[in-house]
Amino acid sequence: MRLDKAVSAALGLTRKQGRALIAAGRVTVDGAVCRRADLPLAGGEKLLADGKPAVYEEYVYLMMNKPAGVLSATEDGRGPTVTDLLGGAWPRRALFPAGRLDKDSTGFVLLTDDGPLAHALLAPRRHVAKTYEVTLDAPVTEEMVRGFAAGVRLADGTLLKPARLLPDAADPCRCTVVLTQGVYHQIKRMFGVYGAGVNALHRTAIGGVRLDEALAPGEFRPLTPEEKRALGAGAAH
Ligand code: URA
Repeated sequence: MRLDKAVSAALGLTRKQGRALIAAGRVTVDGAVCRRADLPLAGGEKLLADGKPAVYEEYVYLMMNKPAGVLSATEDGRGPTVTDLLGGAWPRRALFPAGRLDKDSTGFVLLTDDGPLAHALLAPRRHVAKTYEVTLDAPVTEEMVRGFAAGVRLADGTLLKPARLLPDAADPCRCTVVLTQGVYHQIKRMFGVYGAGVNALHRTAIGGVRLDEALAPGEFRPLTPEEKRALGAGAAH
């Protein structure tokens, strides 16, 4: 394979963008800067772009800290989406959010082009836990904690699976909620049953992977190999 093809595929760039990167001297092959786009590779060479490994991966997995006011969708006439925030990175990859957060909710959104993994993370039978930090307009009550543990019945009659509600020791209006299903507006509707409104909702973890606190709202980064393993990325689903 030629160097420009390998670098473009690894970084999800167009061939033209890959060539520009190489021409700018930002790519090294086994430690030496290489400006030859058509350099033939035998395979096994160590490619770095801006000092970071440029390894071709079948799928891309990004952790994003979604800001409020942004939709978890790929395209939407109603406002900016999480894919808009990628700012043109990975132009050749059809990345989409695996699971939704409401427009006013913030926190961990996984963006990927791995359809089978996204499906598995959302499948009710997999019970992948999603963790949220919630701020209410009223104090958390014992009745809520017991009701969540038993399974809340929503106003429309839907009986939800048991969920964990952990009150915050320092602030009576704050708590952590862990869900293993994803019904539309689930947390807001669950607290609505008890007459409480949700002022803020922030997703902090998907399965065993926690949102990187170094990511400012709107920032994203690839999952590490350990994080991918923890989500079962690359495994057969
Ligand atoms: N529950 C909600 O109500 N909203 C979200 O964004 C996520 C869970």
